[in-house]
Amino acid sequence: EKGEYRHFMQKEIHEQVRSLTDTLAGRVDFDEGRIHLDTLNLTAEKARKIEKIIVTACGTAAHAGMVGKVLIERIAKIPVEVDIASEFRYRDPLVNPNTVVLAISQSGETADTLAAMEEARKKGAMLWSIVNAIGSQAMRLADGCISMQVGPEIGVASTKAFTAPLVDLYMLAVLLGDLRGELSATERKRLVADLSLIPDLAGKCLDREEEVKKVAYALKDTHNALYLGRGINMPIAYEGALKLKEISYIHAEAYPAGEMKHGPIALVDKNMPVIAITPRDPWYDKMISQVEQVKARGGIVVVVATDGDEKARELADYVLWIPETPWLLSPVITVIPLQILAYHIATLRGLDVDQPRNLAKSVTVE
Ligand code: F6R
Repeated sequence: EKGEYRHFMQKEIHEQVRSLTDTLAGRVDFDEGRIHLDTLNLTAEKARKIEKIIVTACGTAAHAGMVGKVLIERIAKIPVEVDIASEFRYRDPLVNPNTVVLAISQSGETADTLAAMEEARKKGAMLWSIVNAIGSQAMRLADGCISMQVGPEIGVASTKAFTAPLVDLYMLAVLLGDLRGELSATERKRLVADLSLIPDLAGKCLDREEEVKKVAYALKDTHNALYLGRGINMPIAYEGALKLKEISYIHAEAYPAGEMKHGPIALVDKNMPVIAITPRDPWYDKMISQVEQVKARGGIVVVVATDGDEKARELADYVLWIPETPWLLSPVITVIPLQILAYHIATLRGLDVDQPRNLAKSVTVE
């Protein structure tokens, strides 16, 4: 039931304080500073054998995987590739028993993702999954699984089933880093302690819905939008653009911001809104200089920026404010205003966001 909300998507966006709390429940020992993911069936011996992780998924789940790459490489020092499931399954990928193939899927029934898992199984990889739907194929096929614990997601545009796997991947990275001896006790404890902040920070973003709605009003008649991000927040540009295109039918593209000068900056004029994700992460200065270049070419600039960031306020036409967040967890927070923005742009255009045209919640055919 939608309760006080107009759409399931809006309800599910607002459920994220709860779903992120549930994501941590039973997995995080804040006293010891340790992560427990028992259903992964992981031992220190197995963790040390891993030479490579390939994340395979589709759509929003693949964007979560792209964030996971940065997290696992940074924290656990294991090389990670992200492979769209429909590509992985047909490419004769290089996989061996020391490779982990990690599938991410809300429904656990996406045909391409399941086929990618079967391909990995045939080649002898270790097979893990991060799945929401309990008892689904993607859960049953895997040697180890992390369940998303967010409850059913009804809205076709995925929201709470995007932020949960981001946290799951962070916890996985910390667990792997710990088992492989890559983390000092101090580092491990700090990484674990930071998790406790996440539900409240998500709540602060939700409290700002009315301000995001004003930006939605300003952008509702645009025909195009360009999303830019770098580093750990580059996948959030992809996710923000996907949310906008699937429910508002506005053409939106995403680029790693450093690619702008290699072509896409030619698109920028006074009619092109550019949505830049500029939290205080290690790529902040680079992002700001890219925003300056867009501004110099007359583009309408919206930034997702951290409270108190005067530089961002000066530069941008509109700011979607987020609370200060530890940077390795920042994608969980930066995506929330972009979910709300897409939702309000679509509803202002009079569209049924829960049933977007041509889309199904679960893509069980190829
Ligand atoms: C976007 C969206 C889709 C799914 C994709 C994978 O909002 O919902 O892009 O993320 O179809 O679905 P699952 O996660 O069920 O495998």
